[in-house]
Formats: sequence, structure tokens, C-alpha cells
Amino acid sequence: MNDREIFINMIDDNLNEMSDTIDCLYTTSNFRVKNKLLNRLRKSMSNISMLTQGLRNDTSMNNPQPSSDRLFTLDELSRYNGRNGNPAYVAINDIVYDVTGNAAWGGATHFGLTAGTDVTSPFASCHAGQPILSKLKVVGKIT
Ligand code: HEM
Repeated sequence: MNDREIFINMIDDNLNEMSDTIDCLYTTSNFRVKNKLLNRLRKSMSNISMLTQGLRNDTSMNNPQPSSDRLFTLDELSRYNGRNGNPAYVAINDIVYDVTGNAAWGGATHFGLTAGTDVTSPFASCHAGQPILSKLKVVGKIT
């Protein structure tokens, strides 16, 4: 499956999630739940806008997939901040992971953290022992 198809599938996933969220909104009268659901809708929308921006910038989309052996300086990593159609990468223990389109990293941010940076210590503080990294694609190493 090429990148375009992957992005289009992700857009579909977000649209399906939005449809489910709207169904829940119809059935709930609880103010707090309503707010949470509205936040989830906003996150899905920001995912979709990032993905469509990525599709628009087709050139970067069709770059051959960097292999996991690709080397990044921290300066190069900072360009993969998930903005302006760029993919969103983070580094943990000198390994570079792709968090583009990951629901928890909507808008290329996550609990105050931003893509394009080394997040080794916040990861250790917040997710030690959790099987999260195996779900993310490795796109290179820090040199
Ligand atoms: C400030 C430190 C952090 C906090 C407080 C935090 C908190 C959380 C929470 C509450 C969730 C579950 C809810 C959600 O999906 O939004 C989550 C999921 C996730 N976090 Fe973090 N996180 C932190 C740092 C990181 C870092 C550094 C990474 C780097 C890759 C990361 C990657 C993820 C991923 C990929 C998920 C989704 C997991 C899944 O699909 O099951 N988090 N985080």
C-alpha cells in the first residue's frame, strides 16, 4: 500500500470516528460527556486537515520511504514537526519514530510535547513499560 492510500485510509478512519462521536452526542445530555465528545471531534478534524495537507503536498508524500537506517541530526529532526504538510517524527533513545496521523498526537502535539523533538525523558516518565513504541514506525536514527 503506498503513502497516499495509507493517508486516505487514515482520513476514512477519522471520518468513521467522527460519525460515531456524533451518534454519541445525539444520545447524551451530560454536559461533561458532551464536552469530551466535542473535543474528540475537534481532534479528528485536526487529524484530517493535517492528512489532507500531506496529500496536497504530494511531492513530500512521494519521497521514497526513508529506511530505518536513515540518520537524522537533531536539527534535521526539528523539520519533521508535523506542520505545513511535513510528517511528524519524534526521537526516543536515539531512534526516530513516525507519529504522523497517530490519534494521540493530533495536530503533532501530545500533552504539551511537540513533534520534531527528542522526547526520551518525557516518554520514560509517562510511558515506562508500556508497549507503545512497537506500534510506531521507525524511520531512522539520531546521529
Ligand atoms: C508528558 C508526557 C506524556 C503524557 C502525560 C502522556 C499521556 C498519554 C495518555 C494519557 C495517553 C492515552 C490517551 C490518548 O490516547 O490520548 C497516551 C497515549 C499515547 N502516548 Fe503519551 N504521554 C506522554 C508522553 C508521550 C511520548 C513522549 C510519546 C512518544 C512517542 C507518547 C506516545 C503516545 C502514543 C503513541 C499513545 C497512543 C497509544 C496507543 O495507541 O495505545 N506519549 N499518552
